[in-house]
Formats: sequence, structure tokens, C-alpha cells
Amino acid sequence: MSDVTVNRQWVLARRPVGAVSVDDFRYQEGEVPEPGEGEVLVRTLYFGYDASQRIWLTDDGGYMRPVGIGEPMRTMGIGQVVASSDPGYRPGDLVEGFMSWQDYVVARSDGPMPLRVLPPADFPLSWNLGVFGVGGLTAYFGVTDGLKVGPGDTVVVSAATGATGSVAGAVARAMGAKTVIGIAGGPEKCRWVVEEAGYDAAIDYRDDDFAERLRELCPDGVDAYFDNVGGDMLDTLLLHMAPHGRVLICGAMSSGYTDVQLQGPTNYMKICTQQLTVRGILLFHYRDRLAEGARELGQWVREGRLHVAENIVEGFEHAPGLLPTLFTGKQPGKLLLKVADPA
Ligand SMILES: NC(=O)c1ccc[n+]([C@@H]2O[C@H](COP(=O)([O-])OP(=O)(O)OC[C@H]3O[C@@H](n4cnc5c(N)ncnc54)[C@H](OP(=O)(O)O)[C@@H]3O)[C@@H](O)[C@H]2O)c1
Repeated sequence: MSDVTVNRQWVLARRPVGAVSVDDFRYQEGEVPEPGEGEVLVRTLYFGYDASQRIWLTDDGGYMRPVGIGEPMRTMGIGQVVASSDPGYRPGDLVEGFMSWQDYVVARSDGPMPLRVLPPADFPLSWNLGVFGVGGLTAYFGVTDGLKVGPGDTVVVSAATGATGSVAGAVARAMGAKTVIGIAGGPEKCRWVVEEAGYDAAIDYRDDDFAERLRELCPDGVDAYFDNVGGDMLDTLLLHMAPHGRVLICGAMSSGYTDVQLQGPTNYMKICTQQLTVRGILLFHYRDRLAEGARELGQWVREGRLHVAENIVEGFEHAPGLLPTLFTGKQPGKLLLKVADPA
């Protein structure tokens, strides 16, 4: 057991109304918790940033229990086991799973995403939250299973600079797609999508000629659309889908996730007339196949077919300040906060 007694925490001070802000959180210091029966005490090392954290701050919580006022903010994280009463975890083990914005968390092996022990690996520890974490694995299962991308497909991915989108293009290419197009905000991010993430072309969603560019780049329509954004962008894409096209609803960034009740698409009759298939994805449902996804992604990384992008900020004090940037603009790739080094 560690001899450290202070546990720094960022707790939810009030439920955000509209966009999440730093002022919605409060800093406090608590005691290092004691793990109970079947529990594991973990010292946190990295926090991952996911747009879904904003959903967990709503009254409803979306697909998980909402974070309560006064509770440390929930996050996906990487940590190191300090003490354990679960035989599956030993002190010193590096682990990934649900944690919260504090130095020490009590974790359990059960739940929607089990706390997984990270085997020794020849890649940076932080990649377990990015390319081998929620974003990369959602990209993998979304493209291979959700959209069933195959040879000859024209594929479009929105939020293509994000943790998920920056991987989805490479997965689509590995599946034999004919053309892979990414959507991003601004010329610099569009350049990154092509030159770094390896897409064939990019479309700037902030440009007025968005629909025209889509028509130009996909003259026969879009066979598979990986939708991370929803809203008007989804509506525009529905007008450009090829007959029998597939749409994967992965996220709704354009909504800001301030409410769980969102307006659906207006052009939904295209689903009928073009005989489209629309599917959703929630990574939790692939919890038994995560190792398979990580293995495949790892192989493509080793072969140089998959570009890994992360954006690591250091310092526990930055925890709340980074969350709003998911919605207001951030660097390409997975956003992470490093709070400590492993012992
Ligand atoms: N269903 C699941 O299991 C699952 C798992 C993981 C992620 N997701 C969803 O996937 C989406 C992307 O998450 P991520 O972690 O990959 O991204 P991320 O790294 O958090 O980056 C945010 C991305 O969203 C884009 N974005 C933000 N506001 C936008 C807007 N108003 N219009 C268009 N694009 C906007 C940004 O693009 P620009 O910088 O170019 O503006 C950026 O690429 C989210 O909706 C998230 O909820 C779902």
C-alpha cells in the first residue's frame, strides 16, 4: 500500500447547462481510498478525453449512470495497481479502464468495459487509450463489422481528425475500399487528414461548397458513411448515398451532447428510396472481441499502414480545461492528460 495520503480530485461542482466549462468542476483533496472485497486500488497515470463524457454530465447520463454532483469526473484511464483484493490484478500491474479525475481510484473487474491488464508491449503506454483504446477499437469494429467495408467501396468518415476518425480511414483502406474521404474543419486539418492520416481526399465542412465537393469526389454516391457528427452533415450525406449504401451512427459531435434528446435527420426518406442500411455502434457491445481488434490494429501499425496520432498534455491541474476543447477545437488525434509516471 502506498504511503501517500493525499488524493487530488476534480469533482463535478454543478451540472453544466449548454457547453461544458472549467467552472463546472471543483478541485479538492480527499483521502486515498481503501479497496473493498473484489476491488482494486489504482494510481492514475493518464486520462483519456472522450466526447461521451459530456453525455455523462447530463441528468440522464445517456447510456451510463450520470456523474453525480460532488463525484470525481469519470474518464477512461490508464493506471497502475497499488493494492488489490481481486486475484486477477497484482500490485504493479498496468491497467486500462473506467477511472476518474483523481490520483487514486477504486476499480472493479466487472462493468461495461472491464479493467484490463496491459501486457508488456513495444509501443507507448498511452496508445492503450488511443489507437488501442476506445477510438481505435470503435474505428475498427465500426468499419469492419458495422459498415462491412469491402473492396470497391467509396467510404466517407466525419470527424476524420478525431481519435476514431483518424483510424477509421486506414481501417477502411485495409478492408480494400476504393476511395476513402475524410471530413474535417479548416484547410490545415484537411491537409492533415490526407498527408498524415492517409485519406485520399478531405472535405472542409466549414466551406460553403461542402455538398458540391462531396458530389465531385463521390460521383457514384457514398457506399459507406461513418458518422461521428450527426446534424446537418448527416442530412447532407443522406442526399449523397449510393443505392444500398450503409450508414454507421457512431456519434453526434455537432450536438455538443448537451442533451440526450436530439433532432433526427430531415432527409430520412432517402433511407427508404435508396434502400439504405443505418446501424448504430456502441463499443461496449464488442467487449468480448477487444483483443482481436487491438491485434489487427497493432499489425497495421507495425506494417506502417496506420498512423498513430496523439496529443498529450501534462499536469493534473489541466484535467477540466481540456474537456471543452473536444467541442471547440483541438489538435488531431487522441487527446490525453498525463498525470503521473508508472512506479
Ligand atoms: N459509439 C461509440 O462507441 C463511440 C466510441 C468512440 C467515439 N464515439 C463518438 O465518435 C465521435 C468522435 O469522437 P473522437 O473521440 O473520435 O473525436 P475527438 O478526438 O474527441 O475529436 C473531436 C472531433 O470532432 C470533430 N468536431 C467537433 N465538433 C464538430 C462539429 N460541430 N462538426 C463537425 N465536427 C466536429 C472535430 O473535428 P474538427 O477538429 O475538424 O472540427 C474532431 O475531429 C464522437 O461523437 C464520439 O461520441 C462513439
